[in-house]
Amino acid sequence: MMIDTHCHLCKEDYENVELIIKNMENNKMIAAGVNDATNQEVLELVKKYPTVYGAIGIHPTEVGMSDDASLERIENHLKDNKIVAIGEIGLDYHYGKKEKEKQIEFFKKQLDLARKYQKPVVIHSRDSIEDTYDIMKEYKDLKMILHCYSGSVEMAKRFLELDVYFGIGGVLTFKNSRVLKDVVYFLPLDHILLETDSPYLAPEPYRGSKNEPKNVLLVANMLAELKGISVEEVINITTKNAFSRFDLNKSL
Ligand code: NI
Repeated sequence: MMIDTHCHLCKEDYENVELIIKNMENNKMIAAGVNDATNQEVLELVKKYPTVYGAIGIHPTEVGMSDDASLERIENHLKDNKIVAIGEIGLDYHYGKKEKEKQIEFFKKQLDLARKYQKPVVIHSRDSIEDTYDIMKEYKDLKMILHCYSGSVEMAKRFLELDVYFGIGGVLTFKNSRVLKDVVYFLPLDHILLETDSPYLAPEPYRGSKNEPKNVLLVANMLAELKGISVEEVINITTKNAFSRFDLNKSL
């Protein structure tokens, strides 16, 4: 069984979300929200589909449209059985640092919630790796996942010291992903999780088209090639990693 540990299954992106979920057959996926509306969608999806787990959170680029009530709504569902993490949360300076203070405030408040409810956190970091690291090191008691890791090998070493797990997705299959391939070559397999970040970042040969969770197999294939092991082994180990990092046994 494979687990896509990070995807977005929004109505806005898929005409037929049910079909996308069925394409995963008995494999599992963790659908992540990014704001009030998509968090609500995640809550509905996990109720309806046995193979879908959820993460809810306010994404750094969504903090402008969010407030304390958004965080309260998240808190109200952290004891739900199939809500397995807070995410995706983090820092994103790609579009500038205008909202930097509010991003940091929301990031920390959600990390505090994770600590209070003993929930794993799924972290997004874009053009902000140093600030992200500085905050994460204050929360190293938490179970943290860096999703779609795009940093250097050097940074990966520092995150590993915090016992962070790394979500690896379709970028690994891109021809120009030399740095990420080096990172994956370096990372111990027991700290790697498979993900797609659907509908974004479709792996080769579908680069540029709409991604979906079933493509997680293409990421597994590339990982197997880089690590010189079989794809079955990659799937076994990463699924085990996902179960332990997200405490999935508690949510079955
Ligand atoms: Ni994402």
